[in-house]
Amino acid sequence: MTYLVANWKSHSNNTQSLIWLKEMEELLPTTPSNLKVIICLPFTDLPEFNRHLDLQKTPFFVGAQTVSQYPDGKHTGDITAQMLSELVTYCVVGHSERRSFNKETCQEVAQQTKLLLESNITPIICVDTPYLDEQIKELFVQNITFDHCIFAYEPISAIGSGQAETPINVGKVAAKIALLTNENTTILYGGSVSPENVLSFTELPGINGVLVGTSSLDPNTFSKLIKTI
Ligand code: PGA
Repeated sequence: MTYLVANWKSHSNNTQSLIWLKEMEELLPTTPSNLKVIICLPFTDLPEFNRHLDLQKTPFFVGAQTVSQYPDGKHTGDITAQMLSELVTYCVVGHSERRSFNKETCQEVAQQTKLLLESNITPIICVDTPYLDEQIKELFVQNITFDHCIFAYEPISAIGSGQAETPINVGKVAAKIALLTNENTTILYGGSVSPENVLSFTELPGINGVLVGTSSLDPNTFSKLIKTI
């Protein structure tokens, strides 16, 4: 199984997300069964997007882009894993933009991961080399078992820069993640993935797919990615 995860970040309101989906369905009436397409949307788009997927029987999965580090309770404005459990099967945690703009720490990401797993949502844990060891240590502190987790190696220098990491380095970091997690872990690569370079990552041993930001926003480019894989 190959994973293709779209991370829309803070793009697309409800109306725009439905237009995107309609265009995708026209461009790509079927999705290959060996490809798992996961669209990580803004919270506000989730209910309607889900409804439309159900109606059209489009075989995409839906994810969120972050989650509260707390369970339900007195945390004004937070969206908890329990709330998301009716809406998504996946959730990105620890994206470098949240680590940098929202000051999320490895401990918080480990707490989010634990709460997601308790709500039967698969966490997609983003990591980069400067804090890879610390992040995995914090996950062990929370007694996380990795068989229901996905890791995404996302070097900060490659995100949104048009300069993807070299497949050789991606392979090395994937091997390190596999070693540190002691499991047959699902590992993705993310950072300036395009239809032109995607196969150099998806065909690497130890890499199970890609996480894409910019290339997921335009239905033409995203459908090209799917066809290429
Ligand atoms: P990019 O973003 O594909 O635009 O580099 C990837 C990401 O931030 O997850």
